[in-house]
Amino acid sequence: MPVLVTGGAGYIGSHTCVELLNAGYDIVVVDNFSNSKPEVLNRIKEIAGRDFKFYAADLLDRNGLERIFSENCIEAVIHFAGLKAVGESVSIPLKYYYNNITGTIELCEAMARHGVKKIVFSSSATVYGNPKSVPIKEDFPLGPTNPYGRTKYMIEEILKDLYVSDNEWGVVLLRYFNPIGAHESGRIGEDPNGIPNNLMPYITQVAVGKMDKLNVFGNDYNTHDGTGVRDYIHVIDLAKGHLKALEKVMRGSGVDIYNLGTGTGYSVLDVVKTFEKVTGQVIPYVITDRRPGDIDMCYADPSKAFDELGWKAEKDLEDMCRDSWNWQKNNPNGYE
Ligand code: NAD
Ligand code: WQD
Repeated sequence: MPVLVTGGAGYIGSHTCVELLNAGYDIVVVDNFSNSKPEVLNRIKEIAGRDFKFYAADLLDRNGLERIFSENCIEAVIHFAGLKAVGESVSIPLKYYYNNITGTIELCEAMARHGVKKIVFSSSATVYGNPKSVPIKEDFPLGPTNPYGRTKYMIEEILKDLYVSDNEWGVVLLRYFNPIGAHESGRIGEDPNGIPNNLMPYITQVAVGKMDKLNVFGNDYNTHDGTGVRDYIHVIDLAKGHLKALEKVMRGSGVDIYNLGTGTGYSVLDVVKTFEKVTGQVIPYVITDRRPGDIDMCYADPSKAFDELGWKAEKDLEDMCRDSWNWQKNNPNGYE
């Protein structure tokens, strides 16, 4: 019985589809291409050497969802579909609440109508807000500081309530730290629209000549070199974490929450230096003002995922930089 992957044409979803297909799962993918391109589907098939069913549909379209569940005997859902730009969520909050939260409610209603009660959800370290200390454990207080983060927090609560109402639900909430990197083939990777918001795609676009320099947002943070520290995790390690989470939901019911990070924090300048070292590219940068809302340090304690799922990140920052660059240099214009 197939696994439904929502948002499977996106950055993390596409890498997870490859890992699922490689592991022998049958998958059904749904995406509305609001932040992705159809070409990614060909690339997934090419890498995995296997075909899968795809629906170009929106989670907000009840009839479209009904069709997917009627035509396929779905066993479980991995739910990536959502909007994720923090800044945009501050200027257009209703778009984020509507798409992310209503989309998830429609999905869960369709699942319930068809007796599908196993879901792995893409949450985010952003639910912790400004953590009281690092490394961050799953039982730390939550306090997202922007509408995007609040959609993740609210969806976590909705899925917990669903389990309380019906103990047959199996829910795994995965709180990702900072995913970067790409499949080692260089055929799939992150393809942001317009000017990248996140550090690694910005660096790779400087390296490929699309941007002239990196703006480093502040060097007066309380960190070893003054620039912000984050827990960067290779997207393939993250994708593999979803297979472990899927095995967990299939084993039984309940709600389980896991941090997916490496447990190591690197500063902006650590990332720049490592990128330069492994790629031989020079990344010109200037120090600018802090970006509003940014925090000093954020990295995971990922030990719960290791103890309960048997998962840990295997790839290091050099792998992440090498694979991000391999994708960008082979696809300077992304999937276009
Ligand atoms: P992405 O934008 O590349 O992928 C999301 C996909 O969902 C896109 O292909 C988009 O077209 C699709 N989508 C959005 N709304 C939809 C809808 N209503 N119906 C159907 N499809 C829809 O993002 P990503 O980086 O792959 O992230 C995947 C998930 O992980 C998201 O939920 C995101 O919030 C979460 N997450 C991402 C990060 C990160 O830094 N990339 C970190 C933590 C959590
Ligand atoms: C990393 C570091 C910046 C760009 C975001 C979301 C979070 C999650 C992951 C979804 C910070 C610095 C960045 C640049 C810079 N996504 N930076 N120049 O902010 O940790 O997390 O993505 O859930 O919710 O907020 O990631 O890659 O934007 O920034 O100096 O051009 O790089 O200040 O220290 P962030 P990021």
